[in-house]
Amino acid sequence: MLSKAALRLVSAVSPRRMKLLLGLALLAYAASVWGNFVSMSFLLNRSIQENGELKFESKIEEIIEPLREKIRDLEKSFTQKYPPVKFLSEKDRKRILITGGAGFVGSHLTDKLMMDGHEVTVVDNFFTGRKRNVEHWIGHENFELINHDVVEPLYIEVDQIYHLASPASPPNYMYNPIKTLKTNTIGTLNMLGLAKRVGARLLLASTSEVYGDPEVHPQTEDYWGHVNPIGPRACYDEGKRVAETMCYAYMKQEGVEVRVARIFNTFGPRMHMNDGRVVSNFILQALQGEPLTVYGSGTQTRAFQYVSDLVNGLVALMNSNVSSPVNLGNPEEHTILEFAQLIKSLVGSGSEIQYLSEAQDDPQKRKPDIKKAKLMLGWEPVVPLEEGLNKAIHYFRKELEYQANNQYIPKPKPARIKKGRTRHN
Ligand SMILES: NC(=O)c1ccc[n+]([C@@H]2O[C@H](COP(=O)([O-])OP(=O)(O)OC[C@H]3O[C@@H](n4cnc5c(N)ncnc54)[C@H](O)[C@@H]3O)[C@@H](O)[C@H]2O)c1
Repeated sequence: MLSKAALRLVSAVSPRRMKLLLGLALLAYAASVWGNFVSMSFLLNRSIQENGELKFESKIEEIIEPLREKIRDLEKSFTQKYPPVKFLSEKDRKRILITGGAGFVGSHLTDKLMMDGHEVTVVDNFFTGRKRNVEHWIGHENFELINHDVVEPLYIEVDQIYHLASPASPPNYMYNPIKTLKTNTIGTLNMLGLAKRVGARLLLASTSEVYGDPEVHPQTEDYWGHVNPIGPRACYDEGKRVAETMCYAYMKQEGVEVRVARIFNTFGPRMHMNDGRVVSNFILQALQGEPLTVYGSGTQTRAFQYVSDLVNGLVALMNSNVSSPVNLGNPEEHTILEFAQLIKSLVGSGSEIQYLSEAQDDPQKRKPDIKKAKLMLGWEPVVPLEEGLNKAIHYFRKELEYQANNQYIPKPKPARIKKGRTRHN
C-alpha cells in the first residue's frame, strides 16, 4: 500500500521537483549529523571541563590541607590546656624561684611545683637550658619565665629559692671555666643576698663532685672529699664547694635558712642529647645504629637515679628542717657494660659494643650513701632502672624524629667542648 502510494507520488512529481526534494532531504540529513556532532562535542567538552575542575579542586585541596592543619594547631595553642594544677589556698601557696629552671632537672622541678599549685618563677640565661623545656607553662597565671643571668643581682619577692643555675656536664662546664666559676660563686652570692633580703629559704643544687675522686666508698655526707683544685674539673668541683661554704656563711652570719642537696648522676627525658654522658651516649648510639663505645673493659660501675626521684628528694629536703648537706642519688650500681647491654636490648638495636682504650682518671666506682636521706627525709629512689631508661629512650627517639621533621630548626650544636678527655661521666 505504502510503496504504491510512494510510486504514485514519485511519478506525479516532475524531475525538477524531484531534484528539489532530494536536495532538501540531503540538507536535512546533513543538519541532523551536524546536530549530533555538536551535542556530542558539547557533552565531551563538559566532561573534559568537569574533569579539569576536579583535578584543579584536588590540587587546591592538597595545598590547603597543610594550611588547615596549621590553623588547627594555632587554634589549639590559643585554647591550650595546661597540665592539671592543684588549687592551693593563699596560705599554702608559695612563691618559688627556680634558677636554671629551663634546664634538665629544673624543668622537671618546675612541673612538680606548678602541678602542686605553687607560683613558679624560672630564671635562666639559656646557656644549656631551653624554652621548649617549660613552654607548656608559658601563659599560665602561676608561671613566669625570666631571661636573666644569676651573675647579675635579681630583685623579686619569693618564699623559696631552688638554686640550680650552673652548667652540669663536663663539656659544658669546661667550655668556659671562668664563667662556670662566676655562676657558682657570684651567682650563688647573689641568690643568697636575695634570700637574705626577702627572708626566703634557699636550696643549693650541689653535686657528688664535691667528693672529687673519692677514697671512700660509698660516699657519706661527712666525707670531705679528694678534689684537685687546679685540674680541668676544678671550676665546677671547687665552684660547688665554695657555693656550699657561702650557704653556711650566710646561715651562720645572717640567719638565712639553707638546704644543700649533693646530687649524684641523674638521667631522664630533657637531658642533653650531646653532653657526652654514658646514658645519653649509649641511647643515641643504639637508636642511630652506631656502635656503643665502652672505654676500657666496661667493668667500672656507675649509679643513676631517675629525674622524678631526684625532684621528689629536692622538694622533701627544701620542706624539711635538715640544714646540713644531704646526698640524693640511687645507690644501685651497674657496670658500664651492663648499661650498654641493657640499653641495646631496650632499644632493640643491632649495634655492636666497641671497646676503646681506657680513659685516664676514669673513676672505677661511684655510689652514694643515702642513709641520711632515708632517715631524715623518708626519701629513697623508687623508679626502677628499666622503667626510667624506657622513658629516656622514648624521649630521645622523639627528639631525633623532631629534628628530622624540622630541618629548618637548627640541630643542637654538639656539646661545647674545648678541653677535657673522653671518659664515662
Ligand atoms: N644532672 C645531674 O646529673 C646533676 C648531678 C649533680 C648536680 N647537678 C646540679 O643540678 C643543677 C641542674 O643540673 P642539670 O642537669 O639540670 O643541668 P642543665 O645544664 O640542664 O641546667 C642548668 C641550667 O642552668 C642555666 N644556667 C647556667 N648558667 C646560668 C647563669 N649564669 N644564669 C642563669 N642560668 C644559668 C642553664 O641555662 C640551664 O638551664 C646544676 O646546678 C648541677 O650542678 C646535676
